[in-house]
Amino acid sequence: MIKNFLTIAEISRKDIRDILSLAERLKKGLIKIKKVLKEKNIVIFFQKPSLRTRISLECAIDKLGGNSIFLTDNEVGLGKREIAKDVILDLNRFVDGIIARVYNHKDLEQMVRYAEIPVINALSDLEHPLQALADLLTIKEKKGKLKGLNLGFIGYGDNVPISLLFASIKFGINFSIASSPNYSIPLSIQEKARIQASQTKAKILFLSEPDLVARNADILYTQQFVPMGKEKEANKIRKAFKKFSVTKELLKLAKRDVIFMHCLPAYRGEEVTNDIIDSQLSIVFDQAENRLWTTIALFIKIYGT
Ligand code: CP
Repeated sequence: MIKNFLTIAEISRKDIRDILSLAERLKKGLIKIKKVLKEKNIVIFFQKPSLRTRISLECAIDKLGGNSIFLTDNEVGLGKREIAKDVILDLNRFVDGIIARVYNHKDLEQMVRYAEIPVINALSDLEHPLQALADLLTIKEKKGKLKGLNLGFIGYGDNVPISLLFASIKFGINFSIASSPNYSIPLSIQEKARIQASQTKAKILFLSEPDLVARNADILYTQQFVPMGKEKEANKIRKAFKKFSVTKELLKLAKRDVIFMHCLPAYRGEEVTNDIIDSQLSIVFDQAENRLWTTIALFIKIYGT
């Protein structure tokens, strides 16, 4: 039974496997969508912009028979108008769940501390667990397995690769990441990942050379160079990642049947060239679609009896 969903690092392999299996069956139409959110109101609170996450959440809630209420920070003023504790103490009285996209993961942790309703992370500075669920499902669909694959990530070591790192470890995917040295996955998280990887025997590598990560990869994954919330440092970050674009030359180092992944939005011509994102190797829109199926499955896991 899951109540909250804040990180991939802290959720069990079994729970993820159940969600993926349910998502797979729902997508194939093998089972009907149970209206587990009938007469339930779910708040979607976003401090940052979104296309895929917001739409997949709203569509999922609708398909499950629930009602979504979208709030931006203009209404909430998290940490300025009101602290996270007071926000959740109010929401406990009105609604049946909150899904939040926040700058500071600690705000989600504070909500969980006082929540009587489920709290779901729709992206924080620490993790993007909803994205990782869709990524695992998409890899499984395309490769027919997870264990033993080589996943190479190229880019800033923040929320998306951190969730993918822990997802990979749990399912025996060998994960390597190339980041410009000042923008690597934080050392404390690398250490936590090494401890988890020692239990599953997944190989993990934290590097700064895109070539090494691309070599022999089954999957090459990238994301926008400049994370949301780091716009003030954009020029510096872009400069640091100048040689980290996914190009045709880089893909030549990977396995012949390599697939290209991206969480989107993509800055075409920056982290990836048009010929790659538009090629047969690219599965980025399948990833986007799977955001819906894995989100429906997660809600059923949380709200189903
Ligand atoms: N991948 C992702 O989370 O997309 P949005 O930022 O558009 O929600």
